[in-house]
Amino acid sequence: MPIILAIESSCDETAAAVSVDGRIVSNIVATQKIHEAYGGVVPELAGRAHMQHIVPVVDQALQQSGIQKDQLDAIAFTQAPGLIGSLLVGAQFAKSLALSLQIPLIGVHHMQAHVLANLIDEPKPAFPFLCLTVSGGHTQIVLCKSPVDLEVIGETIDDAAGEAFDKTAKMLGLPYPGGPLIDQYAREGNPQAFRFPEPAVPGLNFSFSGLKTSILYFLNNAGESMLYREKLLASPEDRTAFIRNRLPDICASVQHRIVSILVSKLSQAVLQTGVTRVCIAGGVSANSGLRQAFLQTGQSEKWETFIPRFEYCTDNAAMIAITGHYKYLNRQFDDFSVSPSARGSWGNQHA
Ligand code: KG4
Ligand code: ZN
Repeated sequence: MPIILAIESSCDETAAAVSVDGRIVSNIVATQKIHEAYGGVVPELAGRAHMQHIVPVVDQALQQSGIQKDQLDAIAFTQAPGLIGSLLVGAQFAKSLALSLQIPLIGVHHMQAHVLANLIDEPKPAFPFLCLTVSGGHTQIVLCKSPVDLEVIGETIDDAAGEAFDKTAKMLGLPYPGGPLIDQYAREGNPQAFRFPEPAVPGLNFSFSGLKTSILYFLNNAGESMLYREKLLASPEDRTAFIRNRLPDICASVQHRIVSILVSKLSQAVLQTGVTRVCIAGGVSANSGLRQAFLQTGQSEKWETFIPRFEYCTDNAAMIAITGHYKYLNRQFDDFSVSPSARGSWGNQHA
């Protein structure tokens, strides 16, 4: 029954959690507010903020768990992918602590952890299952044969779903991260008000960059057209007024299209693999439109559906702890020369 301290620092959240035999006993997240003013995460500032937060966040996670440092069996940390300056802070901290306590070190792939967030609470999906992982940097469909045998069977060829949300929000003049705000406005709007095109991408892969361009033209033309035609270009005043007057409808329509792209590829993956246990994970799985469409489709198609608790969808260390737990059981340890990686291998690997 391993006791694991986990650290997550891949982007703009400094997080620590403790698990006891696969049960999460503490889960602390410090979100960096400093990036809001810049409309996106500033890597240099993120690294610095991680340095300020890491000691208090780890202390708090240990305190909340009631576990003493000398009871720990391993330290897990996010090894990839992410911002290199951010990953380095967590990796160095994890290494130093593991070295001083003379316990194993477990490097975790952030995307594997998002998937395994589905194994934190009951009911857990039995294997094999499919997982649609949608975050700010990734959009993937993963076939999970065991906690440590995962295969990416579809992914985005350009932008991630979270990026599509955040970039749309930026075009609408909303602050970063815009995904949750689009979700909020969409609740008041009509998802059929405007029809955005669905990209034709073969197989189980996704594309969101065409959608982003059509949204830009649509706004530049104050809703008159999604095609770039100069004579239709609206004045900045008309553009602003259009956004102000129709914000809920624009948000609902964009969200509807992003969600329909995601759910239709997921349905295709179910048909292709014959696997009907289906999960969603990652920050965008907090989206209420996606959750609703996923559950509705699951019900009509007779899937067994799973969604992690809200705080395990966005970046957190509980998911790193659960992944560390399974890697510990499989004796998948790293030596102290392990270094973080901005991209990290992931694909048809046996993670
Ligand atoms: O998994 P995550 O916390 O961090 C990454 O690993 O990227 O995902 C962050 C992404 C951001 O793009 C954010 O806008 C999006 O998740 N997000 C949402 C919602 N909550 C978070 N997007 C749409 N609706 C939401 N409710
Ligand atoms: Zn993430």
